Amino acid sequence: MKSVRIDASKSYDVLIAPGLAAETGERVKALLNPASCVVVADDRVYSLYGEDVRQSLESASIRTTVFTFPHGERNKTLATYERLLEQMCADRITRSDVVVALGGGVTGDMAGFAAATYQRGIRFIQIPTTLLAMVDSSVGGKTAVDLRHGKNMVGAFCQPSLVLCDTKTLDTLPPEEFACGCAEIVKYAMIESEEFFDSLDRTPVAEQLESVISACVTMKRDYVNRDAFDTGDRIFLNFGHTFGHAIEACSDFSILHGEGVAIGMAAITRAAVTRGICPESVLTRLISLLEKYNLPTVSPYTCRQLISAALSDKKAQGETIRLVVPERIGKCLVEKIPKGDLKSWMCDGGIKP
Ligand code: NAD
Ligand code: GLY
Repeated sequence: MKSVRIDASKSYDVLIAPGLAAETGERVKALLNPASCVVVADDRVYSLYGEDVRQSLESASIRTTVFTFPHGERNKTLATYERLLEQMCADRITRSDVVVALGGGVTGDMAGFAAATYQRGIRFIQIPTTLLAMVDSSVGGKTAVDLRHGKNMVGAFCQPSLVLCDTKTLDTLPPEEFACGCAEIVKYAMIESEEFFDSLDRTPVAEQLESVISACVTMKRDYVNRDAFDTGDRIFLNFGHTFGHAIEACSDFSILHGEGVAIGMAAITRAAVTRGICPESVLTRLISLLEKYNLPTVSPYTCRQLISAALSDKKAQGETIRLVVPERIGKCLVEKIPKGDLKSWMCDGGIKP
């Protein structure tokens, strides 16, 4: 088993191994000893792993209730969050109890936000079941739901008490969802390490799963430990996300988060080449790696379609917006630009006017 310790506003372990979901009960009992837990999962994940997790908690003498919701980003909403909170009240979940977020980033973000705010905050654990959630969203304490105006527009920073990455759950993950996790993995390589980029090029992620997850969590740990509340260089973790979030929103979420991020990384790298910030070889190598992992690299939307979603990005500050731009593989910089210049950056990124 691999283990990474996070020391942010709170300290906790991220454990990575096959079969960890079945150990949920004994691990929660030993660490948190709650009287009750609420397991939160989308319908797909609950049908695959929900009962095993529930039984594991019940076997540890923890009273367990269940909340399920329809899968997909379209349900990462205030309405789902409110239904969860109302059910937690009805099920008499108290401040000493625990939320168990079982699933991908949608579940982790929504259930984490419920835990952060229910009775002013209760403890929660993450059991990520997508590659994307294992390498990124389950770690670091960003919780949120979407508003009609944009993704993650309401949320809180709230670190989990434990993260259990059960790599066996990835056996059932659809290939396009596995590819989305690879997009975030390529993101880490682009911002942090050419050596890691080369290893992803040489050896498929699926053949070095545990070591890739642990490498990504370790890289994320360093950003989160330095900047738990995202006021400094944690912004680098958003490489590709400004255009990515806009593309996702424009598609009404038929384009998946990781796919949007892949297109966003390619677009901002194209813009960096056009503006002489990085050499063409960086773009060529990035596109070839993204294509190797079956990820898209071209926006199906025009600047006109994307601009309002991109302008409401949370990296906007007053009349400026911060873009994470590659200089070379393993090194990015932050460009603070007037909002009015965003369109020309998009055009330089190959996005049609
Ligand atoms: P997701 O939670 O929607 O999961 C993707 C799909 O896979 C869902 O349909 C789900 O039912 C299914 N699924 C999950 N695990 C499965 C399994 N083991 N087998 C079969 N099917 C399975 O999406 P995601 O890609 O995990 O996460 C995307 C979300 O994460 C976005 O909302 C994004 O904004 C958020 N995110 C948050 C952070 C953060 O720091 N909090 C970071 C990155 C992304
Ligand atoms: N995924 C971006 C962050 O955690 O900061």
